[in-house]
Amino acid sequence: MWPLAAALLLASACCGSAQLLFNKTKSVEFTFCNETVVIPCCVNNIEAENLNELYVKWRYKGKDIYSYDGVVNKSATYGDFHSARMDVPELLKGDASLKIDKSEALLGNYSCEVTELSREGETFIELKYRVVPWFSPNENILIVIFPIFAVLLFWGQFGIKTLKYKSSHMDEITIAVLVVGLVTTAVIIVGAILFVPGEYSIKNATGLGLIVVTTGLLLLLHYYVFKTTIGIPSFVIAILVMQLLAYVLAVVGLSLCISACIPVHGPLLIAGLIIFALAQLLGLVYMKFVASNQKTINPPRNN
Ligand SMILES: *[C@@H]1O[C@H](CO)[C@@H](O)[C@H](O)[C@H]1NC(C)=O
Ligand SMILES: *[C@@H]1O[C@H](CO)[C@@H](O)[C@H](O)[C@H]1NC(C)=O
Ligand SMILES: *[C@@H]1O[C@H](CO)[C@@H](O)[C@H](O)[C@H]1NC(C)=O
Ligand SMILES: *[C@@H]1O[C@H](CO)[C@@H](O)[C@H](O)[C@H]1NC(C)=O
Repeated sequence: MWPLAAALLLASACCGSAQLLFNKTKSVEFTFCNETVVIPCCVNNIEAENLNELYVKWRYKGKDIYSYDGVVNKSATYGDFHSARMDVPELLKGDASLKIDKSEALLGNYSCEVTELSREGETFIELKYRVVPWFSPNENILIVIFPIFAVLLFWGQFGIKTLKYKSSHMDEITIAVLVVGLVTTAVIIVGAILFVPGEYSIKNATGLGLIVVTTGLLLLLHYYVFKTTIGIPSFVIAILVMQLLAYVLAVVGLSLCISACIPVHGPLLIAGLIIFALAQLLGLVYMKFVASNQKTINPPRNN
C-alpha cells in the first residue's frame, strides 16, 4: 500500500498541487474616506470550476468572523462582524477578499483560509488605519488667517467711519453694522476654534462652514460702511463685485471640500478667501484715501 502513498506524496511534492498559493499582501490601510474596507485574499492557483469544491474561512486574531461553505452555497458571519461579506462568484477566480463596513472593521491581523477539495492554504493580512489630515498644515493656517484678517480690516473701516463720519441720522444703520460686525467676528472666531487640524470630522466641517459662510456677512457690512460714508462710486462697485466673486469661489470650494472627503479643491477655497480679504484691504485703503481728502476738501456726503 505504501508505494502508492509515496507516489501520491511525490506527485504532490513535485507539482505543489496540495497547496494553494496566495498573492501575498502584508497589510492594507484604510482611512476615514473608505466606506467599505476590503481585505484582500487572492489565490493564485485556483482550479475549482464549481463553488461546491470551495470552502473559505476568515479569522480575526484567531477567532472566526466569516465562513463560506460552497457545498451548501452559504456564508455565515460571527461575532460583531455582521457586515462581513464576500463576492461569491469571484471565488472561482481565486478572489476570496473580505468586505467589511468601516464601522465594524477592527485593526489587526486577519487570516484567510481557503480549501479547494483536498488542497488548502492560509494567508495573513494586517489591517491598519491611516490618519489623513483634511487639509495640509499650511492650508489650515491660510483658511483661518485670511477671514480673520478680513474681519480686522472691517473693524478698521468701521473705526474710520465712526471717527470721520459721525452723523446722528445714520445711527440705526451704524448700530446694525456694529451688531452684525460683532456677531460675524464671534462666529468666525468660534469657527476657527472648531476648525482644528486633523482628519475630516463633523466638528471640523462645521468650523470651516461657519468661517466661510459667515465671511459673506462682511460683504454686506462692507457695502453698508461704504454707503454710509464715501458712497458707492464705480471703484467701490468694482471692489464689491470682486469680493462677491471671491465669496462665490470660496463657497464653491467649501462645498467641493465637504462633499469630496479628500479635499482636492482646498486651493480653490483658499484663493476665494485670499481674494476676499484683499478686496477688503483695497476697500479700507480707498476709504482712508477718500476720507482724508474729504476732510480737507469736501464735507462728508450724507446719503
Ligand atoms: C481605501 O480606499 C482606497 C482608495 O479608494 C483604496 O485604495 C484602499 O485599498 C482602501 N482600503 C481598504 C482597506 O479597503
Ligand atoms: C496575482 O498577481 C499576479 C501578478 O502579480 C497577477 O497577474 C494575478 O492576476 C494575481 N492573481 C490574483 C488572483 O489576483
Ligand atoms: C450561490 O449563492 C449566491 C447568492 O448568495 C448566488 O448568487 C449564486 O448563484 C449561488 N451559486 C450557486 C452555484 O448556487
Ligand atoms: C500582526 O502580525 C505581524 C506579524 O505577523 C506583527 O508584526 C504585528 O504586530 C501584528 N499586528 C497586530 C496589531 O497584532
